[in-house]
Amino acid sequence: MNRSRLHRSNDWFDTPELYGWLRNAALKSRGFTDAVSKGRPIIGICNSWSELTHCNDHLRDLAESVKRGVLKAGGIPMEFPVMSLGEYNMRPTAMLYRNLMSMDVEESIKANPLDGVVMLGGCDKTTPGMLMGAASADVPTIMVTGGPQLKAWWRGEELGTCTDCRRYQNELLAGRLSQDDWIDLQENIISSPGHCGVMGTASTMAAMAESLGMALPGNTAIPAAHSDRKKLAEWAGHSVIEIVKRDLRPSKLLTMRSFENAIRTLHAIGGSTNAIIHLIAIAGRVGIYLNLDVFDRLSKSTPVLLNLKPSGQKLMEDFYYAGGLPAILNELGNSLHLNAPSVTGKSMGANIENARIRDDDVIRNLSNPINKEGGLAVLKGTLAPDGALIKQSAASPELLVHRGRAVVFEGHDDMLNRIDNPDLEVKPDDVLVMRNSGPLGGPGMPEWGFLPIPRKLLKMGIRDMVRISDARMSGTAFGTVVVHVTPESEKGGPLAAICTGDMIDIDVPGRRLDLMVDGQLVNQRLSNRKNTRSLTDRGYMWIYAKHVLQADKGCDFDFLRTL
Ligand code: FES
Repeated sequence: MNRSRLHRSNDWFDTPELYGWLRNAALKSRGFTDAVSKGRPIIGICNSWSELTHCNDHLRDLAESVKRGVLKAGGIPMEFPVMSLGEYNMRPTAMLYRNLMSMDVEESIKANPLDGVVMLGGCDKTTPGMLMGAASADVPTIMVTGGPQLKAWWRGEELGTCTDCRRYQNELLAGRLSQDDWIDLQENIISSPGHCGVMGTASTMAAMAESLGMALPGNTAIPAAHSDRKKLAEWAGHSVIEIVKRDLRPSKLLTMRSFENAIRTLHAIGGSTNAIIHLIAIAGRVGIYLNLDVFDRLSKSTPVLLNLKPSGQKLMEDFYYAGGLPAILNELGNSLHLNAPSVTGKSMGANIENARIRDDDVIRNLSNPINKEGGLAVLKGTLAPDGALIKQSAASPELLVHRGRAVVFEGHDDMLNRIDNPDLEVKPDDVLVMRNSGPLGGPGMPEWGFLPIPRKLLKMGIRDMVRISDARMSGTAFGTVVVHVTPESEKGGPLAAICTGDMIDIDVPGRRLDLMVDGQLVNQRLSNRKNTRSLTDRGYMWIYAKHVLQADKGCDFDFLRTL
């Protein structure tokens, strides 16, 4: 492409070949006259709207606001669809398709006459899939997320998906909630458009986009149903014209400084463990290697400031009225790289200088944090040589240092078949272990890591146990749950060698996760094991099985990283 031309799209429209002429004819067929379209930048509105993704169901409407902003600022908006990943509907997991969506986004942007892009995402995997694709396409881009749901109200209580669904499911299993109550809760739990209203993965990834400088200030917390969400979308349509003029591409925004800002933000908001995988994957697309040690180092010097479920008490709507993400970033102050660039064309510091905490119960001051350390901790040891994660801010403090007897499940089906069997030998201080749930074993590393507490223990009043797997965990879940054990069991990690009755040590302050079994015996067990899963030999699954990387590499495909 000839970069000396005014716009990237000139290479499509101002060429003597027949297709140049036809592209202009096609634009005219949509009612654009030369007087309006000539010489103007073309802005793609990359939309992950789908009725199969209920969290993104309002994004067609939001696209209209983006178009207003683009037209007002002198651009030509062109909305186009990309793959959408609905967390509830896709089986075995939307994560299996994140890389495919990123390829759709990248190739759709690269193949078309786009000078700039506004991306509309929301549900868990759509935001990281889009950011990965945009990073690879490297055309000036602004991320707009769809915003969280409004609070749900049920019998006088404020609720948010899906933290409270999980909490009440435990009560149902314990016999403290009736089936009628459970159905009544279902009627009320999602009260508006938008993504889950707690600090789950969708909210976390919205915050990651904002703290990376890829989304406008305030993007994270504005509820989907609030008129401010449309105003922000219009602002994005306006702003993208400016970043096109400055050629402010993702490769200029996504630097090590911006990733460190995002990681500090992740810890300060008590964000989802999933964000670590996604940040590593986004960074890998622009040639930045993030290892787990960076996350752990910054965790030790970043307090949790946000009192939101599942780490705290409040909901995303409260977060918005308390000042939103700019207020947290301002409170973090000099621990951030305030000179990092952003899609406003200004620095992070300039974006947040006027932000203020308006409710210090929701957004805590540095002097009164929810946790002195960040929400996430990286554990290593004989059970997880390449790392594992725990959301310590949502765990039971008394279980953070624990030794327990392993109760092993071979996979998700085995766990479902046996967990509530009255004959299952399990005690409250045992450690529930599940394998064959990682990137290959799942496949797709499903969010199975939040293993249910056995019903007979629930009836005894037990609500938390140490649980360990190579799966992921929903950002909305809680408890002393260790996930992303790497290497996964399918790859022959030590998780594959555990037998029921082995002892496991977890020491979160010491950052250790150890299998208390002699190393020689572990190796002997591993050499006797057989691979349990054979993935299909055709289509996308064939590509996936051949090229997916482990969790510590972001579960990206090896051929998409630029490291
Ligand atoms: Fe879409 Fe929770 S189901 S964000």
